[in-house]
Amino acid sequence: MRGDVLQLYPPPSAERELRGLYLAHDLRQFANRKEPYIYANFVTSLDGRIAVKRPRGKGMLIPKNIANDRDWRLYQELAAQADLILSTGRYLRDWAEGRAQEILQTDNPKFADLREWRIARGLKPHPDIAIISASLDFPIPKVLTQNGRRAIFFTTAKPNVKRVREIEAHAGSVFVAGKKRVTGKLLQERVRKLGYRVVYSAAGPQVLQLLLEGGVLNRLYLTHANRILGGQEFDSIVAGDLLKPAVDFKMNALYFDAAGLDGLGQMFSSYDRVEN
Ligand SMILES: NC(=O)c1ccc[n+]([C@@H]2O[C@H](COP(=O)([O-])OP(=O)(O)OC[C@H]3O[C@@H](n4cnc5c(N)ncnc54)[C@H](OP(=O)(O)O)[C@@H]3O)[C@@H](O)[C@H]2O)c1
Repeated sequence: MRGDVLQLYPPPSAERELRGLYLAHDLRQFANRKEPYIYANFVTSLDGRIAVKRPRGKGMLIPKNIANDRDWRLYQELAAQADLILSTGRYLRDWAEGRAQEILQTDNPKFADLREWRIARGLKPHPDIAIISASLDFPIPKVLTQNGRRAIFFTTAKPNVKRVREIEAHAGSVFVAGKKRVTGKLLQERVRKLGYRVVYSAAGPQVLQLLLEGGVLNRLYLTHANRILGGQEFDSIVAGDLLKPAVDFKMNALYFDAAGLDGLGQMFSSYDRVEN
């Protein structure tokens, strides 16, 4: 992949290779903390859209005109550093309809270096996956538990017993982690008990909300694509009640990618949550 990005923060400003940019953040350094280290990532338009209504049918999708291969490379580098990836029932429903792809693509020759990166660090080619779902209403694709990957499920109180048995027979353990909604604290506690240390949220705005409300998100990565999309029906990075108190962040890195989006440009930024 061609080209450098310009590191704007921290100073001094310097040209950096795109490839390896987020691997150099070395998120595995946080694996020895008391609590699991949890980070999330979004690509957003300048007007804050991370998903828009599908042109046909129900539901939302990542806007095709802000998704791009340079951001996707960094997304892969973030996913490669995790031992657990958080996703949702929506992802499995999309998968069943042929609209979803592997989150970390270590089987894709294009990302063979990331497979090697994991193996060199004693990690399995595929991180395990946690599915967050209140409904437990999704088909279970075989791929979920192939290649040594383990799946776990987080749901709410009094789940449908028959459904729990089906999921546990075919895929993996189901854990109740909240009454009406899965909460960040209970999810974090269970993730820690299961031995996971570095956790990547590839999910959307409702999951970011629960991670923020629970005070368990450590870092947020954002790509700002230089486009305004408009529209009435969209998702932003977070969805739920007003956060009380608001959650504060400090920037730890900012890069300008002039070559991104066919020369339109985009910003890659990373923020650490400030613990109150
Ligand atoms: N631009 C980006 O970088 C980016 C990143 C991620 C996602 N997206 C897009 O954003 C849209 C929404 O993604 P998403 O569905 O993964 O995100 P989400 O809004 O975080 O999660 C929605 C689903 O997760 C389950 N869920 C979430 N919070 C829960 C809670 N507290 N308790 C129990 N279950 C909970 C529910 O599943 P059930 O309905 O099964 O109960 C819910 O339908 C999609 O179009 C996706 O492609 C964009």
